[in-house]
This record gives sequence, C-alpha cells and structure tokens, in this order.
Amino acid sequence: MFGRTPRKPAPTRVPKIPKNKLTANDNKVSVMVISSTRTGTRCHAGLCAGLSGAISFRLHDSESIFNSLRFVRAIRYALFLLLVYAARGLPGERLLANEELIPVAVIGVGAFGRNHARIYHQLQQDGAAVRLVGVVDTDLSRADVIAREFRCRPFGSIDQLLATHSEVRAASVAVPTMHHLAAAKTLMQAGVDVLIEKPLAPSLAEADELIDAAKSAGVVAQVGHLERFNPAVQATMPLITRPMFFEVHRLSVFTPRSLDVDVVLDLMIHDLDAVLAFVNSPLKEIRAAGLPILSNKVDIANARIEFESGCIANFTASRVSTERVRKLRFFQPRQYISMIKVSKPPITAEEPLKAEIRAFLDSVRCRKAPLVPLEDGQRALSVALEVLSQIEEHARKLNLGG
Ligand SMILES: NC(=O)c1ccc[n+]([C@@H]2O[C@H](COP(=O)([O-])OP(=O)(O)OC[C@H]3O[C@@H](n4cnc5c(N)ncnc54)[C@H](O)[C@@H]3O)[C@@H](O)[C@H]2O)c1
Repeated sequence: MFGRTPRKPAPTRVPKIPKNKLTANDNKVSVMVISSTRTGTRCHAGLCAGLSGAISFRLHDSESIFNSLRFVRAIRYALFLLLVYAARGLPGERLLANEELIPVAVIGVGAFGRNHARIYHQLQQDGAAVRLVGVVDTDLSRADVIAREFRCRPFGSIDQLLATHSEVRAASVAVPTMHHLAAAKTLMQAGVDVLIEKPLAPSLAEADELIDAAKSAGVVAQVGHLERFNPAVQATMPLITRPMFFEVHRLSVFTPRSLDVDVVLDLMIHDLDAVLAFVNSPLKEIRAAGLPILSNKVDIANARIEFESGCIANFTASRVSTERVRKLRFFQPRQYISMIKVSKPPITAEEPLKAEIRAFLDSVRCRKAPLVPLEDGQRALSVALEVLSQIEEHARKLNLGG
C-alpha cells in the first residue's frame, strides 16, 4: 500500500508496417507481398497487372493520373483506338470472326467434364469461334442430360461421335484417369487435338505412350494442370527469383469422386506441378508420409521435397478435411509471398478453367505448342509417383499397412 508508486509502463512499440507491404484482397484470393527490397514496387506493378482481371484491386493513384498531363495523352490515345476499332473491330473479335468455328467435344461428362462442356458452351454463346458438337459418356443417361443442358448431341462412345461428326477438331478428355490413355489415343489417332485432364495418366508408362501418340499424330496435346491458369499464380510467377521455401496446403472435404487415384494424384499433383514450374532446379530428396482414412487409397499426405538449389517445399494435401483450404506461401531472399484462397471465385472473374480452355483453343487455332504440354504432366506425375513410393516406404517401416 505504501510502496513506491508503480512506474508508468513503457508504451508498447507498434512495429512499423514495411513500406513495401502490398495486399490484394477480395472474396476469392488474398495475395500479400512483404518485401524490404526495391522489387516491392515491381511486385506492386506485377500484381496490379496480373490480378486486375480477377481480383478487385484498387489503383490508389487514379486521382493523380487524372490530374496529370498524362490524362490528356491517354484520352487522345483512347480516341485513336476507338477510331481504329470502329473501323476494324476489336482485336480478339477480328481474329475470331475471320476464323472457321472449331468443332469440339467433351469425353466424360461427370462432375468435372460437365465444367468443360459448360465453358465451351459459354464461349460459343459469347461468340468465340468454337462449337460444342457433342458430349460422350459411357453412361448415356448422363451424356443425355449434359447434351440437353448445353445444346449438343449425346454419344455413348468416341467412335460413335467421330462416325457422326468427323469434323471434330479438338476435345477435352475428362474420363477417370485410368481411361485417359484409351480415350485420348483414339482421338489423337483420328487427328483430334486433346486437352487431357490431370493427372495425365496413372503410370509413367502410360504417360510416355500418350506423349508418343501425340508426337506421331502431330496433334496439339495439353494437360489440364489448372493451377497454372490461376490468376494469383500467374501474377506471382514473374516475382519468383530465388525461392528458398514453399509451404502449400490443399485440403478438401470428402466426396466419393476420383477415388480411382489417391490424394497425391488427385490433389497434391496440382501444387507439385506449380512448384516444379516455379523452381528451376533438379530434385535432391523426397520424404513423405500419408494414410488411407475413408477410402482404400491414401487420403491425406505430406511431402517434403528438397531441390539441388537448396529450396525446400512442404506440401500437405487432404481429401478428408472438415473445411476447404488453399494456401501457398513462399519466401526468397528478403521477400515473403502468401496466396490464400478465401472462398469461391466471384462470378465476374474469368475462372481458371476458362483461361485454360481459351489457351488450348488458341494453340489449336494457331497450331502452336500448348502452354502446359504433356511433358509437364509427365514431370508432375513422376514426382507424384515418387511421393507415393516414399509414403509406402514410410508405412512399411512403421508397420502402418492396413
Ligand atoms: N483439373 C481439376 O481441377 C480436376 C478436378 C476434378 C477432376 N479432374 C479430373 O477429371 C477427370 C474426371 O474426374 P471427375 O471427377 O469428373 O470423374 P467422374 O467420375 O465424376 O466423371 C467421369 C465420367 O466419365 C465417364 N466415363 C468413364 N469411362 C468413360 C469412357 N471410357 N468414355 C467416356 N466416358 C467415360 C463416367 O461415366 C463419368 O460420367 C479425372 O481425370 C480427374 O482427375 C480434374
């Protein structure tokens, strides 16, 4: 009571927010870049450019642009473009309008194949040079439902489709992975360009066979590694200089789908492909653990991959979680980048599948190599299979087999 008056506590020091901290946020993805280097400014520019289409991103200096002389020049340039486009049409439209429609089909219209059909139909409605002629599913009632929904014809087999529509030039293959080879090979041998869903195949031998078939048929063949078309991933790509550590989480709730493959080939392969594209270095070591929980294949897995460059990547994938989580974080000298998918994409943003299909159609039309060739699918598959073999090894050592 009579003790000394307690000293006033020293004010808590609030850490300063780094100058180069940048965040972009909406109901889809939150991207944050923290940088203590000048590249922070470049990050800002890169992210603004890359994300503006998909993420509501505020350009804070719009007022100053208005007030500057550049505004006058911008108006003059806009007027010039308006005159040019009024005379010749928008660049995309001009290119498509002069082109013959690409007749396309979707093989396998289950949960994911329906999305391919929906996007082709949407592109067709939007006036793109594409025409969805048919959908194929061994479950003819399913083919019927999807064909009615997207106004095309249903078929029970690829042979029936090609016999009726020999003009089909491109097709998405979204049958279960174990049927990718048979379906895609039939199409390629008939000269049809293919977009094959991921994982490319259940084994490296089948992946090799697909690559050989594409080469000998001389067709465009793309693998559906969707993450490459995720706007946040695309915007981050140019920022990656010397990655040292990745932490990736992809957790989903259980659905009785894609159970012909384990969680590594089902989900983790998306992130393996993205990180392999980010890190330009050979692999040094893979360690992994995983277990079946609800299916008889591995449902939850963790893998730690070390690259020759010294970079370490830590992946966690689960299809038995109580919530859906997508996180990719990494750091490199003096920079930390975090991408967190918050919820479902807003309807206004171009969804990655649409960007992927557009890129595929562009390769088909221009006869150019696809952005994600089958070789990339094979590379991701080979790492995924190595992860699986490490999981088996780990389970054997600990006597976890069930
Ligand atoms: N890129 C992604 O994010 C993503 C997401 C989900 C699934 N996928 C991939 O898409 C493919 C399909 O997965 P899903 O979840 O839609 O499976 P699914 O089981 O829901 O659908 C597969 C459909 O293919 C049909 N089918 C089976 N064999 C066929 C054959 N030989 N010819 C024609 N149709 C046949 C089935 O009747 C079914 O309707 C798989 O390779 C999967 O890995 C990719």
